[in-house]
Amino acid sequence: MGRILRIAGAFGLLAGAVNSLQVDFSSDDSIKQAASTVAYGLLKYYTGNNTGDTPGNLPDPYFWWEAGAMFGTMVDYWFYTGDESYVDVTTQAMLHQVGDDNDYMPTNQTRTLGNDDQGFWAMAAMSAAENNFPNPPAGQPQWLALAQAVFNEYVDRWDPATCGGGLRWQIFTFNNGFNYKNSISNGCFFNIAARLARYTGNQTYADWAEKVWDWMTEIQFIDADFNIYDGAGVEDGCVTISRPQWTYNAGIFLHGAAVMYNTTDGGAVWQQRVQGIMTRTVDHFFNNSIPVELPCEPANQCDVDQQSFKGYLMRWMAASSQMAPFTFDTLMPLVQSSAAAAALQCSGSPPASEFRGDAGTACGFKWTEQGNFDGLVGVGEQMSALSAIQYTLVKKAEVSKAPVTASTGGTSIGNVNAGATTASKLPSARSVTTAERVAAGFATTAVLLSILGGSFFVIKE
Ligand SMILES: *[C@@H]1O[C@H](CO)[C@@H](O)[C@H](O)[C@H]1NC(C)=O
Ligand SMILES: *[C@@H]1O[C@H](CO)[C@@H](O)[C@H](O)[C@H]1NC(C)=O
Ligand SMILES: *[C@@H]1O[C@H](CO)[C@@H](O)[C@H](O)[C@H]1NC(C)=O
Ligand SMILES: *[C@@H]1O[C@H](CO)[C@@H](O)[C@H](O)[C@H]1NC(C)=O
Ligand SMILES: *[C@@H]1O[C@H](CO)[C@@H](O)[C@H](O)[C@H]1NC(C)=O
Repeated sequence: MGRILRIAGAFGLLAGAVNSLQVDFSSDDSIKQAASTVAYGLLKYYTGNNTGDTPGNLPDPYFWWEAGAMFGTMVDYWFYTGDESYVDVTTQAMLHQVGDDNDYMPTNQTRTLGNDDQGFWAMAAMSAAENNFPNPPAGQPQWLALAQAVFNEYVDRWDPATCGGGLRWQIFTFNNGFNYKNSISNGCFFNIAARLARYTGNQTYADWAEKVWDWMTEIQFIDADFNIYDGAGVEDGCVTISRPQWTYNAGIFLHGAAVMYNTTDGGAVWQQRVQGIMTRTVDHFFNNSIPVELPCEPANQCDVDQQSFKGYLMRWMAASSQMAPFTFDTLMPLVQSSAAAAALQCSGSPPASEFRGDAGTACGFKWTEQGNFDGLVGVGEQMSALSAIQYTLVKKAEVSKAPVTASTGGTSIGNVNAGATTASKLPSARSVTTAERVAAGFATTAVLLSILGGSFFVIKE
């Protein structure tokens, strides 16, 4: 299918009236048209393909990881709508940001790059493999190999020395947050491991998914009622857990568990876990069938990152409904109701400094406000609304639209040895020679950094 014509907005302007987003959720064409309008507004925030700008980066105030999340959303946008308008820009961005080792660790991002940041780009690559998104030319990094590179590096960074295992939030000792272990970083590991297990059939990936799950439950980041908490510092062995519950943590583990359920042919162990997270997610986050980012949304305190989280919940609920079809009748009606509420928020006409899509189609943040546009706009809001709307195109038991694997038509080329060691990436100013010369001094520095990291991790977004 070719490009979708975006005529509704232009017509509205000609007629002198400002259009708000109109969607008939009983019509796939109408949903695709609405998704196209919202996607157009979203990509207007992107400047990375302008002359002199860097492909793959969003302008301030958006962090690098959110661009990875956005291009992951655009991979799915292409897959569900068939609209090819953004394939080139998505491919360019996803290849430009691979970094020297083809692992989504570009040197420019070293100062802030955490395991979760890297993971959102890796999950975009994994989606590209699963959706048979057009493969990069030969000689360029391939989608599957990119996801495998990040998996291999996660394995390398698994840290049994503190808290009995788990990934730290940050990769480098000098970044704030190195002494924090969190659910989203380990969620990225779990999600990617499960999907690689399904795609390749290689048991090693499934074993790691099990291992991450076991650690998450042992350390009680996932408790017996399937609440999923933010994380904890390593200083006291991850005993003092920071308890905010974010929609994206629920979503990323729900989806990974659903993939494991699928990969184990509907095994009872994973069925119970999927059921548990699903039940808790619905009870905890949904108010009248509309999700709320509880730690910040009611008090109007969500930051730029958090304003995008509900979109990932939508993505992973829809994906879970395919991998574990028994969840479809619970999850997809909620995606539908969320999409309808989100679409009603897409009625804003902020100034061009805030939004450059079609007038009357800027999407607000608080979906529970329905038609009362709340004035909060940006990449997170636009991407979340796009997600809710586009994932209503997921159908029950539509096997032809299920993510592929290497044995069901997947064409992406992998490399089980992709990736590099973290040590090889340390910036030269902090090269290992220092450590070798004065090992004692290095240890002191490490302690100092650990204190700083423990005190200030909350500042780094
Ligand atoms: C960048 O990509 C967007 C979205 O595809 C497109 O509208 C815009 O024209 C592109 N800009 C340049 C300079 O190519
Ligand atoms: C790193 O930054 C330089 C200078 O802004 C830019 O030219 C280059 O494309 C960037 N590389 C990546 C991978 O973002
Ligand atoms: C696994 O996913 C496929 C594709 O959606 C689905 O057809 C199949 O029924 C799922 N397997 C199980 C055990 O639910
Ligand atoms: C659910 O939404 C209603 C209406 O917006 C609000 O009054 C109520 O406080 C919400 N409930 C919870 C538990 O947040
Ligand atoms: C399975 O994955 C592991 C971990 O990357 C790798 O070492 C092994 O070679 C893979 N096995 C096959 C048969 O590809």
